[in-house]
Amino acid sequence: MPITTTSADFVAWFRSVAPYINAFRGKTFVIAFGGEVVSDGKFVELTHDFNLLAALGIRLVLVHGARPQIEQHLAKNNLGDTYHQGIRMTDADSMQCVKEAVGRVRVEIEALLSMGLANSPMANADIRVAGGNFITAQPIGIINGVDLMHTGSVRKVDIAALNDRMDFGEVVLLSPLGYSPTGEVFNVTLEDIATATAIALDADKLVFLMDTDGVQDKKGKLLKELTIAGAQAVLSGKRKLPDDVSLYLPCAIRACEAGVARTHLISRHTDGAVLQELFSDDGIGTMVVESTLNTLRAATIEDVGGILHLLRPLEAEGILVRRNRELLEREIARFVVLEHDHRIVGCAALYPFPDEAAAELACLAVDAQCRDRGYGQVILDHMTGLAKTQGLKKLFVLTTRTAHWFIERGFSEADVAALPAQKKSLYNWQRKSKVFVRKI
Ligand code: ARG
Repeated sequence: MPITTTSADFVAWFRSVAPYINAFRGKTFVIAFGGEVVSDGKFVELTHDFNLLAALGIRLVLVHGARPQIEQHLAKNNLGDTYHQGIRMTDADSMQCVKEAVGRVRVEIEALLSMGLANSPMANADIRVAGGNFITAQPIGIINGVDLMHTGSVRKVDIAALNDRMDFGEVVLLSPLGYSPTGEVFNVTLEDIATATAIALDADKLVFLMDTDGVQDKKGKLLKELTIAGAQAVLSGKRKLPDDVSLYLPCAIRACEAGVARTHLISRHTDGAVLQELFSDDGIGTMVVESTLNTLRAATIEDVGGILHLLRPLEAEGILVRRNRELLEREIARFVVLEHDHRIVGCAALYPFPDEAAAELACLAVDAQCRDRGYGQVILDHMTGLAKTQGLKKLFVLTTRTAHWFIERGFSEADVAALPAQKKSLYNWQRKSKVFVRKI
């Protein structure tokens, strides 16, 4: 938050993250980042954020990469960097470099996670880092006649051991290596380790820190949320995707299909990206989920509280007519609610007048925090569809303040006389609402 933030803003902001703090306590997050994060000197800020997550009771598995460091080591030893179909070939000499590079990166990360300087976010931190032979790997083997030697893939994750460490409050740090029952070491990609571990642990989140801001559409606009199907569509499209996206998006799909609730692809270049992604509704990057977080459904009596909460501010401003709880309870069957992430963020009610083949769309409301996400349109479309299935031909609204919104969506002003007879008799002449009608 900026230093100029008033205390009221600060308090409001802090309260707004309480639902996430509650939801995340005791949950398991796997967070993966490349060796670039360490070599770029950005890791200090990131450790502060990991420290905060750990302090909030989140069970953390960190997975680090070491690609730039390995490349440096290979170059120093005059060893070539050989790739076959995008996979690094690791012969015995290169494996020596891999071990050295990975070891160094790991030590640096452990050192930074051990910081506890007063006057820094790490004061009193006391993070315990756990490492070990949690990952069993197997050789990738021979692909099209080329033996990849010490390059491996994950065969098994020792979840009992990982859970033991986390039960003790330790943060697990996994390196991009795996061991085999024959005592060999394999060079494994960080994305394979992270994805396999998230799946094995049935983690609640898998997070990849990457070079781009997330996944973008053709026009370069950030796609904030992707379903599995949406992510597959991005991958099968014709356009050339940034390397990181081609690398991590398939992992997100794999994790999601295997039951990891959410995979987040966020920028490693934005300070605090992890916090912004995790502790705000909107996030900062791309989130891949099994199916969309938004549901539009018929309201039930349990929703009355949520609807009232949504309507109160609009009633106070005079945008909507005041409805009391009893009235809402009586008319709840007319309402639909839009939920985002299990929270009611929008509602509307439909009152049909079959004699006139018309319906009133009433109480259309969207949570102020969720403006500009097109939710109003989603609800309007749904209500239009609902009215159509009842054989109705016209939709009308009464409004004092939101005329433009409806005009932009094809409604035109009508006379009070045009209202269905029953509605006309109830018209509130003091409120002087305008009537807008649209054929459907
Ligand atoms: N903070 C929430 C979470 O961690 C929502 C994040 C939404 N992010 C997004 N890119 N749409 O689950």
